[in-house]
Amino acid sequence: DQDATNYRTIRVEVEDAAGTITICRPKALNAVNTLAMEEIVHAARALDKRPDVKALIITGEGPKYFAAGADIKEMADQTYDEAYHKRFMEGWTGLAAVRKPIIAAVNGYALGGGCEVAMMADIIIASENAVFGQPEVNLGVIPGMGGTQRLIRAVGKSKAMDIILCDVRLTAFEAQASGLVSRVVYTDQLMAEARSMAARIASLSALAVAKAKDCINRAYEVPLSEGLRYEQREFWSAFATEDQKEGMHAFLNKRNPSFKDR
Ligand code: CAA
Repeated sequence: DQDATNYRTIRVEVEDAAGTITICRPKALNAVNTLAMEEIVHAARALDKRPDVKALIITGEGPKYFAAGADIKEMADQTYDEAYHKRFMEGWTGLAAVRKPIIAAVNGYALGGGCEVAMMADIIIASENAVFGQPEVNLGVIPGMGGTQRLIRAVGKSKAMDIILCDVRLTAFEAQASGLVSRVVYTDQLMAEARSMAARIASLSALAVAKAKDCINRAYEVPLSEGLRYEQREFWSAFATEDQKEGMHAFLNKRNPSFKDR
């Protein structure tokens, strides 16, 4: 794929319906700078459009770092004027607009912007050595890629305050207990787990998967009554798809469904 060969801060691979984006900035412990986030969002959008890709995985290169934050060297001398006029980080949250499910496979440190990238994914799975934190206040700033908004929805106000104000870091199991992380696996099995999750998703109707993801994420945005109405309409519209007929008739005929994403 033409794009994949041109990226400088990430690696993109497609295998068995899973599109994997690996953050590769080892000298900065995979911290994300402007180029890295632009490349991540670009690659995610390209994978989102490929019909052979059913789920995305995002991870960091190596066994110890998912991403150690946004790049502090890039930000150190930035002025308010520059940040405001170039709308620093504005487009970075484009990752959260992807239609297909994104699995964050968190291998080691996910700090600051790294934790925020993971939270833009739909499911976070973590290796045993993962560490989650939002240490931005130590640097005289605050989380800038959604940390103050997404973390509270994942772990609740008191814990989010503790993590952001007191730089409390969560181990993989603590993050799982607080709802931020879905599964914790042995470090050397992390990618196998992510791929098997992607393969399970790939076996489903991509239409149903996209609808479910969209409705779940809708709950972040709207009041319950509106979310329920939204879900109801999406549920009704599922009956317009061939995959609904296939799925239900396959069940009744005791055979495996063969979904066509139509
Ligand atoms: N940005 C740029 N460079 C970074 C970096 C970052 N976020 N994190 C680490 N590095 C660099 C270090 O500067 C160091 O570079 P040199 O070799 O040139 O000196 C190299 O990576 C190795 O780092 P350490 O020596 O610190 O490695 P360690 O193993 O002792 O510690 C760590 C690992 C605990 C992750 C530690 O590096 C650390 O605390 N990093 C900063 C974490 C942080 O504050 N992240 C938040 C950033 S701000 C942000 O993300 C804003 C936002 O909301 C979007």
